Amino acid sequence: MADSRNDQRRLVGVVKYREATEQDAGDIAALHADSWRRHYRGAYLDSYLDGDIVADRLELWTSRLAPPRLDQYTVVANDGGGVCGFAHTVFDHDPKWGALLDNLHVRSDLKGHGIGTRLLSHAAHGLLQQRPPGPIYLWVLDQNKAAQSFYDARGGTRVESTLRGPFPGGGTAMGHRYFWPDASLLVVRDT
Ligand SMILES: CC(C)(COP(=O)(O)OP(=O)(O)OC[C@H]1O[C@@H](n2cnc3c(N)ncnc32)[C@H](O)[C@@H]1OP(=O)(O)O)[C@@H](O)C(=O)NCCC(=O)NCCS
Repeated sequence: MADSRNDQRRLVGVVKYREATEQDAGDIAALHADSWRRHYRGAYLDSYLDGDIVADRLELWTSRLAPPRLDQYTVVANDGGGVCGFAHTVFDHDPKWGALLDNLHVRSDLKGHGIGTRLLSHAAHGLLQQRPPGPIYLWVLDQNKAAQSFYDARGGTRVESTLRGPFPGGGTAMGHRYFWPDASLLVVRDT
């Protein structure tokens, strides 16, 4: 525990957070594909995950990050060696649940060092700079227990469970909606 806290303190200074641009599409796509292969197997079809999902993700991120980037905010974390995490928020997504946090991924070897917490914080800050205070939500797969523990630790409330999909490439799986009544609850002091 002490080591983990020391690691967090060390990384707080090293990792920088900024809004993503179209130049980040390739790095984000590679990290997104790697994270899906590690964490979404069993929900997403093997035939899809074993295919060229980097190209698939690159097409998505090239389109998302092309200016003007309206009604959305993407933040990247950079540890000096490149993009090591990202979060993507879609504003005004649902009249009841608010903005959608559509993607949140941290490079596998850097998980558990506070980067996900700070990406959430920057995502909420980016939203609150462009919209009045309001709610934010996300979906997490039932099999992704680690992410659920993370959202529990970040104060999220599980408000709904339902069958999700069809996912890219096909397939369905149970998922849970996590909700924060005010995005400012995710903002942490040191970001
Ligand atoms: C989920 C994820 C984004 C969290 O980011 P992270 O940088 O690893 O998490 P942090 O280090 O900021 O936060 C860890 C916090 O969650 C808590 N936590 C509890 N169980 C955890 C677990 N199994 N894994 C990670 N964090 C956990 C920790 O106790 C800690 O809380 P604290 O700050 O109050 O001590 C990251 O692990 C990840 O990219 N996972 C793979 C992709 C994924 O599942 N994305 C979410 C899709 S919905």
